[in-house]
Amino acid sequence: MLEIKGLHKNYKVGRDIIKAVDNVSFNVEKGDSIMIFGHSGSGKTTLLSIIGGLTKPDSGIIKYGDTELWSLTDNDLSGFRNRRINFIFQFSSLIPTLTVLENVILPTSFNKAADKHRGIDAKDLLFMVGLQDKLSAYPSQLSGGQQRRAAIARAFINNPEIILADEPTGDLDEETEAEMLALFRKMNVENGITFLIVTHNTDIASQCNKHFVMNRGILTPKDMG
Ligand SMILES: Nc1ncnc2c1ncn2[C@@H]1O[C@H](COP(=O)(O)OP(=O)(O)O)[C@@H](O)[C@H]1O
Ligand SMILES: [Mg+2]
Repeated sequence: MLEIKGLHKNYKVGRDIIKAVDNVSFNVEKGDSIMIFGHSGSGKTTLLSIIGGLTKPDSGIIKYGDTELWSLTDNDLSGFRNRRINFIFQFSSLIPTLTVLENVILPTSFNKAADKHRGIDAKDLLFMVGLQDKLSAYPSQLSGGQQRRAAIARAFINNPEIILADEPTGDLDEETEAEMLALFRKMNVENGITFLIVTHNTDIASQCNKHFVMNRGILTPKDMG
């Protein structure tokens, strides 16, 4: 479903050139749950944001089926992102003036009417992440972990083909983290949603079917034994 070939991304900082992503290639099959490990600064976030159509690579190809992501016009690119991809960022960004329920429903308003009811109901999603009592609360009234859980619920609302998750459980306590991982597993196994998860949490490894490690921009397969 997704073909990534020869990606490069350099950043210029003063006189230095940082090879954030250095000749990265791999394929993603539908239903894969892929984990990318790596120290901080190894290029994981940059790679994910290129794959998600947020950061333009210097060179390389990203093909979702027959669609070459970085050949799309800006307009088509944002439409494609909204319909096909979803993100769970390192730092969740709920809209402060909307309630939790409104935040979760929001992405459906950018979609065609016909697509609206494909996904799981927003209230069901909030129940699944344990926020059924917080539907009409505002983000500022939630703890950091609760905000993160709301952002996780929102990522599933449009029934995306693929979820790109950047250290998705980073600021959660252990128990909540285990619950969120169980939710990812359920979405992967029962709903066929493909996952690309960046993390340094090895607990996630057992529920992923492919593992990579990133080091100074270079991605290599990792044998989990
Ligand atoms: N916008 C940017 N401008 C300059 N350097 C950047 C930028 N974004 C990331 N970098 C650098 O690229 C490298 C990879 O960063 P990043 O992708 O955030 O790694 P990770 O997510 O693995 O911590 C780091 O050295 C970082 O400092
Ligand atoms: Mg990062």
